[in-house]
Amino acid sequence: MVDDFNTAAELELARRLAASGRDPGEADRLARLILLFLILPDPPDCASLFPRFVELRRGLESVVMTGGAEELEDAFLELYAHLHMNEAPYTSDERRRLDEAGGYWNHAGGLRPILKAGPWIGPETVSADFGAGNGLQGLLLQVLYPHRKTVQIEISEQAVEIGRKICDWLRIPAERVEWIVDDVLNVPADGYDFIYLYRPVRPEGPGRDFYTRFAKEVESEDQPPVIFSIADCLKDFLSDDRYEIVYGDGHLTCFKPR
Ligand SMILES: C[S@@+](CC[C@H](N)C(=O)[O-])C[C@H]1O[C@@H](n2cnc3c(N)ncnc32)[C@H](O)[C@@H]1O
Repeated sequence: MVDDFNTAAELELARRLAASGRDPGEADRLARLILLFLILPDPPDCASLFPRFVELRRGLESVVMTGGAEELEDAFLELYAHLHMNEAPYTSDERRRLDEAGGYWNHAGGLRPILKAGPWIGPETVSADFGAGNGLQGLLLQVLYPHRKTVQIEISEQAVEIGRKICDWLRIPAERVEWIVDDVLNVPADGYDFIYLYRPVRPEGPGRDFYTRFAKEVESEDQPPVIFSIADCLKDFLSDDRYEIVYGDGHLTCFKPR
């Protein structure tokens, strides 16, 4: 699904990216994303939502023919971060609820979880992002590994509205993405094969109850999901006899059910 090369351009780009020591499968996926973002039209409401998109894409274009792995990656990361948006737009009510639950603001989880997820997502996978922002992470998972459904749970209604537009722009069929505008504290964690989360709430007070319940729900599944967690605080809530850590770099922790 993901590791067969589509074009000579992709192969050449993937080779250059892999020359820096990157895993070849991940280099291929990154090459696909880079080439896709070079050929897409400008995103919807580009001038107001993504005012630097055109400039940043030009920067990527200028290094894509001859740039080294690091230059390419940096240029693409800038474009990615711009699309991710640093700030989710919150209403005063959403902000109050976010603060009550010790919610984290909209920082980007980065490309590594997206590039590493390949082996864990198949066509029948149902994935979720708890605290999705505009859903870019889950949408890029759909781009690289088309799968049954991605569920995006996010407290900011406006971030979700932007996410729907990005989904359409990336030509992901709308039925593959479900958007839930709610507090993660209210949303069950069962029914998924792959869960991604970037510390939506702090593990204190109501946040502690969230992680306790989350761990209980995933562990009581017949087939518990693989979990990719950024700035992880689940480790203290999952039990060693149900989950093992298969990757950790201080930023991303990957849990696999035993
Ligand atoms: C650190 S960002 C992660 C964004 C994205 N998932 C990523 O990894 O790039 C955390 C996100 O969780 C959302 N969030 C914070 N508290 C929340 C809550 N109680 N319920 C739902 N979403 C929440 C924030 O609005 C923000 O979009």
